[in-house]
Amino acid sequence: MRPSVIEEAAKRLQASSWAVALTGAGISVESGIPDFRSPGGLWSRYDPLEYGDIRSFRTNPGKVWRMLMDMDRMLHEAEPNPAHYALAVLEREGVLKGVITQNVDSLHQRAGSRHVVEFHGHGRSARCDQCGREVPRKALKVQDLPPRCACGGPMRPNFVFFGEDIPRAAYLQAMHMMERCDLLLVVGTSATVAPASYLPLMAKNRGGFLIEVNPNATDLTSMHTDLHVPLPAGQALPAIVSALGLSME
Ligand code: APR
Repeated sequence: MRPSVIEEAAKRLQASSWAVALTGAGISVESGIPDFRSPGGLWSRYDPLEYGDIRSFRTNPGKVWRMLMDMDRMLHEAEPNPAHYALAVLEREGVLKGVITQNVDSLHQRAGSRHVVEFHGHGRSARCDQCGREVPRKALKVQDLPPRCACGGPMRPNFVFFGEDIPRAAYLQAMHMMERCDLLLVVGTSATVAPASYLPLMAKNRGGFLIEVNPNATDLTSMHTDLHVPLPAGQALPAIVSALGLSME
């Protein structure tokens, strides 16, 4: 553990008046869900152009569903880890206003975070790509791939593919938060996918302070990050909670 970096992060959070967290797949790695771009990540097993783009889904939804079933298994087994719980504590104690997440795993909500903006949608429901009918993901019977709606259209998850817009409500909520944000706690994201990758820049443009929790350096680290905490989120965030004199309970 690096006490000075942790203490500095805690001090900055304490001094902020509108701190927000931006999370990515890295925060759920310690829950057993591989991220996208690290070695062994989802995009090393599935070509994102073939599996991650809405045009690929529309051309061959059955093929893309094979990847979705793989993701589904991982999401199903995952539990929140200490990093998710630490963010929930920080929000409960008034240190954080909320979390903007790129993740679709619902682990922030399950850990107790209340104000969660799901920038890329979520995996709790599916909808017909043709008529828009929605069903809870658990109620979706997946036998043949792709699963189909009564209208014959292919069902799809309620998260965004490359080439799609950010869900409007989530986008507006995120903008609302970023207009006030004076500290952005960026956790477990490579910050390479727009428009989520613009959020740290928005914070900086407003004069906000950027803390990055990531065991690895990213494109943000050398150019924009004010304080890099080079540790896994599951270690760093509980340590910050404790440096603030708060309890993880
Ligand atoms: N703690 C913190 N960070 C971690 C950890 C950990 N335990 N393990 C890995 N990381 C970091 C990696 O170093 C990497 O910088 O998390 C980051 C994950 O980056 P990506 O795999 O690119 O994931 P993300 O930034 O969430 O991707 C953005 O890309 O394909 C899309 O829609 C998908 O929402 C996703 C978006």
